[in-house]
Amino acid sequence: MLILNMKKFYIKTFGCQMNMHDSEKAAGILKKEGMEQAESHEDTDIIIFNTCSIRQKAEQKFFSELGRLKRLKKKRPGLKIMVMGCIAQQMGEKIFKKAGHIDCIIGPQNIHSIKDAIDKNIIAALDENPAIAETELPADRKEKGRAWVSIMYGCNNFCTYCVVPYTRGREKSRPKESILKEVKGLADEGYKEITLLGQNVNSYRGEGGFTGLLRELNEMEGIERIRFVTSHPRDLSDGLTDSIGRLEKVCEHIHLPMQSGSDRALSMMNRGYTYREYKTKIDKLRNSVPGIAITSDIIAGFPGETEDDHKDTINALKELEFDGIFAFKFSERPGTKAAIMEGKLPEGIKTERLSEILGLQDEITLKKNKALEGKVLEVLVEDINKGENKEGHLTGRTRGNKIVNFSGSSFLVNKLVRVRIKKGMKHSLLGELLDENG
Ligand code: 5AD
Ligand code: SF4
Repeated sequence: MLILNMKKFYIKTFGCQMNMHDSEKAAGILKKEGMEQAESHEDTDIIIFNTCSIRQKAEQKFFSELGRLKRLKKKRPGLKIMVMGCIAQQMGEKIFKKAGHIDCIIGPQNIHSIKDAIDKNIIAALDENPAIAETELPADRKEKGRAWVSIMYGCNNFCTYCVVPYTRGREKSRPKESILKEVKGLADEGYKEITLLGQNVNSYRGEGGFTGLLRELNEMEGIERIRFVTSHPRDLSDGLTDSIGRLEKVCEHIHLPMQSGSDRALSMMNRGYTYREYKTKIDKLRNSVPGIAITSDIIAGFPGETEDDHKDTINALKELEFDGIFAFKFSERPGTKAAIMEGKLPEGIKTERLSEILGLQDEITLKKNKALEGKVLEVLVEDINKGENKEGHLTGRTRGNKIVNFSGSSFLVNKLVRVRIKKGMKHSLLGELLDENG
């Protein structure tokens, strides 16, 4: 049955940049089909949740928001509740038992079918979709200066803790020509910065490989900054390290998740490198790319992690001095190998280890940010600083991906400017505008 009066949709996104970009694609498709995006769940015909299942907490957050909609759905039975993303794929139709007020689930490989799912009242679109890399979807981007661009989908790594290979399927690379065409379009629209997205961009298999792609994008007129996430340490080649140093538009920042400083733990995680190998890559990056900012992910309390393994991680953090990290307690994910491993640690120990990691890193991050005081850096102005909530305060990012707040007028948004760093703090930098010519 066609439901003709469904005009407005509202999307709420949980999780990573990949998910945010998937939501832009869903919105792009629906708007192209004449629907309107609503600002709140109160004033809409369709509510779409784009979900994350990376850790239990992300999952809980979604289910508690979903629970709150039960009453609304009762009051307005015509309201359609759709669940996209990793939880949809992971739970499949079991989700209807847990939450009967959901109308439809769409996995991350089936965003292209969102309009059909609405029109034809489809309840589940979860098939593996090998054509995903060849499918070009319109993205409705909210920002005007920075854009995400997908270059590959899925993941073949099967780290033992991770749910992604199960939710996003096997690795597939998007053809180079299709990427170049999209970025050319973005440059024509005035975008200055692109972030290439993939679970493991270093294993991009399109023509010319990842370094070849970077080289061509570096030539693209109008694009000033190129970023990419996420890199896998095992696949980060010397060639790529050199390219980051040589290609002037590729920003001096890499997110290179280490996960642990212990070889035992790394092996149990199936990461495919030792701490020494990881450190060698960091040394090379720092040699080839002066001033490069390096960020990382750490998991605290992996099953079987001993006090010594944890100390290895602490020592690694001290030795490597990352610019910043995202650290998480190990979270058991159904269907992964780690979920059935021996040696699960009590919550208290995981919490203790995590807070030691975060406390130490806070000091290192502060020290790194303080070291930038007095330096003049290029900043892409992103927005009026909402925290300040008044005209005259801007926020932007350095090439090293650090947030800088400074005074300046709003016409500078989306422009490259030079800023002198006055103060380095834990989460951001305070600066002073020098000029607007980058
Ligand atoms: N528990 C805790 N952290 C996890 N991550 C992925 N899976 C889990 C899990 N089961 C972290 C990793 C990864 C980041 C995106 O999330 O550190 O790099
Ligand atoms: Fe993104 Fe991973 Fe969460 Fe899926 S599980 S939404 S890929 S962070």
